[in-house]
Amino acid sequence: MITATGGTNRELAEKFAATAREMGHDADIADLSVMDFPMFTVARSKELDVVPGMAELKKQMGDADSWMIIAPEYNGSMPPTLNNVVAWLSTEWQDFRALFNRRMVGLATHSGGGGAHVIIAMRQMFSFLGCIVIGRNCVSNNNKEANPETIEDMIGQLAN
Ligand SMILES: Cc1cc2nc3c(=O)[nH]c(=O)nc-3n(C[C@H](O)[C@H](O)[C@H](O)COP(=O)(O)O)c2cc1C
Repeated sequence: MITATGGTNRELAEKFAATAREMGHDADIADLSVMDFPMFTVARSKELDVVPGMAELKKQMGDADSWMIIAPEYNGSMPPTLNNVVAWLSTEWQDFRALFNRRMVGLATHSGGGGAHVIIAMRQMFSFLGCIVIGRNCVSNNNKEANPETIEDMIGQLAN
C-alpha cells in the first residue's frame, strides 16, 4: 500500500492492508507524506547520489508482488508527493523497467469530490510505466465510504 498523504488516504491504506492480512497476505504501508523527498529536478538528480530513504522505498516496492496506490485528488490530478517519488524512482533506478514493468497495480482514493480525475491520472502514469493496472478501482469521500466488497475483490485480483 503506497499512500500519497497521511490523512484519510492513509486510513484507506490501513483498510486495504487489514483486508489483505485477513485474506492471508502480507501487506505493508509506505507513507510518502512522511518521507519528505526533495523535489525532483534533473540538476538535483545529478548532484544527489543518494536520496535518504529512497533505497529503502525502492527495495520495499521491488519486493512486493503488487501495489495499491492510494492518493487524494489534487486539482483534478495527483498530489505532488506521488508525482515526485515516481520521477525519482524512474530516473534513479538504472533499469526502471525492473521496478515498474508488469507490476500489478490497483488504484484507490479518498478525495474531496468524486475522485475520478486522480484515478485517470494515476492510471495513465502507471500504465505508461508498464504496470498492469487493474480495471476496478476504489473511490471514496466524506459522503461515500470505501466499499468493503470492492476492497476484497481488488486484493483478490492483485494477489493472484
Ligand atoms: C491542494 C489541494 C487540491 C485539492 N484538489 C481537489 C480536487 O481537485 N478534487 C477533489 O475532489 N478534492 C480536492 N482536494 C481535496 C482532497 O482530495 C481531500 O481533502 C482529501 O481527502 C485529502 O486527503 P488526505 O485526508 O489523505 O490528506 C484538494 C485538496 C488540496 C489540499
